Amino acid sequence: MAILITGGAGFIGSNFVLDWFEKTNEEIINIDALTYSGNIKNLESLKNNSNLFFLQGSINDKTFLKKAFEDFKPRAVINFAAESHVDRSISSPENFIQTNIIGIFNLLEISREYWESLVLDSKNNFRFYHISTDEVYGELKPDDPSFKEDNPYIPNSPYSASKASSDHLVRAWNKTYGLPTLISNCSNNFGPFQYPEKLIPLCIINALQNKEIPIYGDGKQVRDWLYVKDHCSAVRKILDKGLPGETYNVGGNNEKTNLEVVSCICDVLNKIRPRENNKSYKELIVHIEDRPGHDKRYSINSSKIFENINWAPKESFESGIYKTVNWYLENPEWLKELMSEEFKKWMEFQYK
Ligand code: NAD
Ligand code: TYD
Repeated sequence: MAILITGGAGFIGSNFVLDWFEKTNEEIINIDALTYSGNIKNLESLKNNSNLFFLQGSINDKTFLKKAFEDFKPRAVINFAAESHVDRSISSPENFIQTNIIGIFNLLEISREYWESLVLDSKNNFRFYHISTDEVYGELKPDDPSFKEDNPYIPNSPYSASKASSDHLVRAWNKTYGLPTLISNCSNNFGPFQYPEKLIPLCIINALQNKEIPIYGDGKQVRDWLYVKDHCSAVRKILDKGLPGETYNVGGNNEKTNLEVVSCICDVLNKIRPRENNKSYKELIVHIEDRPGHDKRYSINSSKIFENINWAPKESFESGIYKTVNWYLENPEWLKELMSEEFKKWMEFQYK
């Protein structure tokens, strides 16, 4: 038995692989193109694990995908691969259309062809599981109820529009061809191995270098934060117990404004790594020009996954952020390697 995952060298994918092998020895075939946000060293601790196979390649390459399916005959596919950063989708949307829409179409077609060739039992048990985002539902006003699975799709950024398109394709492959699909739409993840272009690691690395911590606009935008290990346990449960054709929202029950998030990180750093001048890291916070089309609030209603699959997050925001800050402090080498020319160019471009 084996599962095939895509994007397993990225933030959530690599946490998923590490978490998987804490629980089971079932083989994983990890397909990843190793774009700027993919880092195979995230899986360094598993280098001697003979149940983990890595294939470098893109979900945009059908021939490559077909061969991987023929060689490994997976019982399930989980798609983590994506272009994932909203700000990059604003400055260069093309990759998002290519990977998040055409790439998913390729993966669906190759999976369908493979699935149709299976004998009845394997065919019934096969799953195509697509990891998606709460951003497809658009933005909420402060008093709106949280997103439920039947909320309309109203994406506002090129990123969320591309993820919404992929969700629609997955749904159509279930309704039209009967492919046993699963989709989960989760909130903002945080934890180890997150590429430092995203708010939480960016705040930590800038603070540690005494650089300004950039907050878009007034910083009152709200996100629901999900500790990545909780997300991994949800994915395992959905793969096991989720019903084909269904969608599940996965949230962390941690709604915070961006200013609250950044203040909390500064408080943790003030305690465990005080600045040499003994001033608070909060003095580094600066408000900069807002992101165009910036969604004000996301909030997830996770009652379906709780009631149907008995999953709930374990980590509070405060305990998760403490672990996360500590992880970045304990892994300076990992960070140093990421400070590539590509990263510097992005920071210069985005924050001028
Ligand atoms: P990430 O950017 O850290 O990782 C993406 C991975 O996909 C990288 O390893 C990259 O090399 C790989 N990849 C990109 N294009 C590829 C291609 N064409 N073929 C093969 N591999 C390719 O992203 P992440 O934060 O780990 O997100 C994983 C998934 O979760 C994405 O689908 C994203 O939309 C979704 N998601 C993320 C969050 C979050 O807060 N990070 C929240 C909701 C949903
Ligand atoms: P991000 O981590 O990019 O995730 P997403 O856009 O998918 O929610 O951003 C989280 C929030 O933080 C979002 O409201 C944008 C904001 N933000 C800043 O204020 N400053 C920054 O430098 C970044 C990267 C994000």
